[in-house]
Amino acid sequence: MLNRSKRRRFIRNAAAGSAALAWLGGRKAPFAYSAEADKPAVLGGTPVHKGGWTSWPQWRESWEPRILEILRSRRWYRLSAPHVEDFEKGYAQLLGAKSCLATASGTTALIVSLHVMDVDAGDEVIVSPYTFIATYNAILSARALPVFADTDPATLTMDPASIESRITDRTRAIMPVHIFGMPCDMDPINAIARRRKLAVIEDACQAWLAEYKGRKCGTIGDLGCFSFQESKHIPSGEGGAITSMSAELIDKCNSFHNCGRACGTNQGHGSFTRGNNYRMTQVQAMILAQQFDKLVKETALRQTNADYLSANLGKIPGITPVRLPENARAAWHLYPFLYDAAQFNGLTRHQFARAVSAEGVPCGGVYGEQYYDGLLDEAIASRGYKRLWSAERLKAYRDSFQELKGNKRVCETTIAVFQNLLLGDRGDMDHILAAIGKVHAHSAELAKAMA
Ligand SMILES: Cc1ncc(COP(=O)(O)O)c(C=O)c1O
Repeated sequence: MLNRSKRRRFIRNAAAGSAALAWLGGRKAPFAYSAEADKPAVLGGTPVHKGGWTSWPQWRESWEPRILEILRSRRWYRLSAPHVEDFEKGYAQLLGAKSCLATASGTTALIVSLHVMDVDAGDEVIVSPYTFIATYNAILSARALPVFADTDPATLTMDPASIESRITDRTRAIMPVHIFGMPCDMDPINAIARRRKLAVIEDACQAWLAEYKGRKCGTIGDLGCFSFQESKHIPSGEGGAITSMSAELIDKCNSFHNCGRACGTNQGHGSFTRGNNYRMTQVQAMILAQQFDKLVKETALRQTNADYLSANLGKIPGITPVRLPENARAAWHLYPFLYDAAQFNGLTRHQFARAVSAEGVPCGGVYGEQYYDGLLDEAIASRGYKRLWSAERLKAYRDSFQELKGNKRVCETTIAVFQNLLLGDRGDMDHILAAIGKVHAHSAELAKAMA
């Protein structure tokens, strides 16, 4: 039971959303209209949502005894206890993968995978530009060139139709990114890779349990890479994994991530192959292994809530939910949608995000056109890259960024809310819809006041 003051607060908050909810297909407002409450929060009105959101990352006291046991055992390193291997078996099973290797991070998972798929200095990798910068950096670490496929504005993922024209005689691999946990359209990508004899490395760093045509992301290409960094759905501070339907490839990954020591079917040449130390610790593995059930339950909740948002957001003029490939389920690390300022009386995307955030629904733009951020200019101006490619090729490469029209549009028009908002209940989802609806209803006034 709510006490009187809590009840009053609840009614006030609900009323703030009620007028905005009117756009929701004539749905009946549950509370009386209140002009004060309906004033946009960024202009001093009452926010639609005042309750806050599930904090992230989370911790359970019940996880502590097994972690303490490892700490006290003084067996923390991968090779001195079985917990990392146990985690690998559990994660592989969860995904329906044949095999899994735990790594120190998602970035190191990508670095190991690129090496194992024989991406070498002077090679080229076709990759999605709309991603966290670690994807680009992993390719640069191999002294290879990240060649960007365009982004499909309807899906925010790699447009398969833009891949073939970018393949050269140096291309070794395609790296699709299941951004925000939304599966790429893998069938056409795999078909091109098979025909052109290229490896496929999935960057599934945001796509734990996402599914494409009945298969989990990370098991559809040759290798799939995951991140367990602190913000992720299954976090351990830092951490990563590589999954595959090929145990032999994972043996090779194991060797490379363990200073080149022989592993299983990969006995190398002499006692060592090339390699580095990219190992996971026992404590990381134990933190992760205890979150499997939680991940499964929360993924289902995020999916239910995202489905509800996707079914209703498109009713607001100027808001377009993202389209998933047929028969796909996203993990929703972020829940994105496309914003059309023209339908909001010219309210800029930044102003829109500020106004919606003020309503208690934090949101914002995500990735920009990172290929203009200097990182690639630095790489192609380096001695190594100048040795590996002709000046003409590097110039054409730099010029080709202008062709990424779909990606530019996505960078300019995408807005997203973070995954923890999707852990709320139906009332919370109504608040997200109401906050955006309210900003739309007041967009003329907001555009003027926020100019
Ligand atoms: C798409 C993507 N790729 C790669 C990475 C790198 O993972 P990590 O931070 O664990 O190194 C991340 C992490 O945020 C990511 O989101």
